[in-house]
Amino acid sequence: MALEPVILNDGNKIPPIAYGTGSKMKFHDITQYIEQAIEVGFSHIDTAVFYQTEKYVGRAIKESGLARSELFVTTKYFQGVSVEKSVRKSLTNLGLQYLDLYLIHQPRVILNLVKTWNEFEKVQQDGLAKSIGVSNLVNVEQLEHLIKVSKVRPAVNQILLHPYNYHEMKPILDACAKYDIVVEAYSSLSPITTYPGGPVDSPLKAAAQRIGATPTQVIFMWVRAKGAVIITTSTTKAHMEEYLAIANLPALTEEEVASIDAAGAEGPPSDFVSRLCGNKMTLAVVFITMLLVYRCFGLGRMGY
Ligand SMILES: NC(=O)c1ccc[n+]([C@@H]2O[C@H](COP(=O)([O-])OP(=O)(O)OC[C@H]3O[C@@H](n4cnc5c(N)ncnc54)[C@H](OP(=O)(O)O)[C@@H]3O)[C@@H](O)[C@H]2O)c1
Repeated sequence: MALEPVILNDGNKIPPIAYGTGSKMKFHDITQYIEQAIEVGFSHIDTAVFYQTEKYVGRAIKESGLARSELFVTTKYFQGVSVEKSVRKSLTNLGLQYLDLYLIHQPRVILNLVKTWNEFEKVQQDGLAKSIGVSNLVNVEQLEHLIKVSKVRPAVNQILLHPYNYHEMKPILDACAKYDIVVEAYSSLSPITTYPGGPVDSPLKAAAQRIGATPTQVIFMWVRAKGAVIITTSTTKAHMEEYLAIANLPALTEEEVASIDAAGAEGPPSDFVSRLCGNKMTLAVVFITMLLVYRCFGLGRMGY
């Protein structure tokens, strides 16, 4: 059984789980992993100019021998060159005539977001991308301004989303729901990969036991419960199969989703470094304390 596709606001369909070629995969020849992912059953592949993996995606697609319509390919524009030039280069790298989805990777590095978006609208009009969207656009006012001044609304917003940042992301999630923009969640396995041993582990384990799943699968079911598309990755066949097997699992109950939300709101585990880095206030207090110690004890005169 495969997961039902999600319908975008432009009428196109998107497979709800994607194989990503960024994060630890970027800047590497990962052709073999992409080939494996396609073989295992991923039909949605996520790449970006910034990852420098487009040509490996292109190679794996060619090797797969699949018809173009059987794959959904996303890439992302970064900055510097014109959108038109960049999208044509991406298509050449990928060996494709069109993209299924083209995203602005990082709005914060784009000098004029509205102008760039207008160029995206042209890319869609010209048939070079079926759907267009944004990524990392987490400022609600910025999103609303873009919608107000544009002809085409973004179909997708790809953002960092996991149980520990869900509350922080709630305003942008609500805005995306309001404007019928599909959220794509990346790094949603953070409770396992980055913050193991935190409050979310317990509700994940309980739900996993009830539905006969792994905590990884429960996180992905949580992402689906939030209506978001999963953007993940793996270098192992076993994990790839584990991810896709969520298609055969029952949905989480409202109570299970609520208990993951509540545990996530408690924040990640009390690892000193992650708390220090994640909390600007603590960082400021530590910095001021160090400054005072430095001044009081005259460490600056010791010749270091
Ligand atoms: N738009 C953006 O700015 C942006 C930013 C970041 C990422 N992305 C996209 O999202 C994709 C996925 O990002 P992500 O890698 O952060 O996603 P993720 O789904 O949170 O994590 C995937 C990683 O989890 C590991 N993993 C799976 N099960 C595990 C387990 N039980 N224990 C420990 N590790 C486990 C996998 O390692 P194995 O290889 O061992 O399976 C893999 O490296 C990227 O490739 C990229 O396409 C987009």
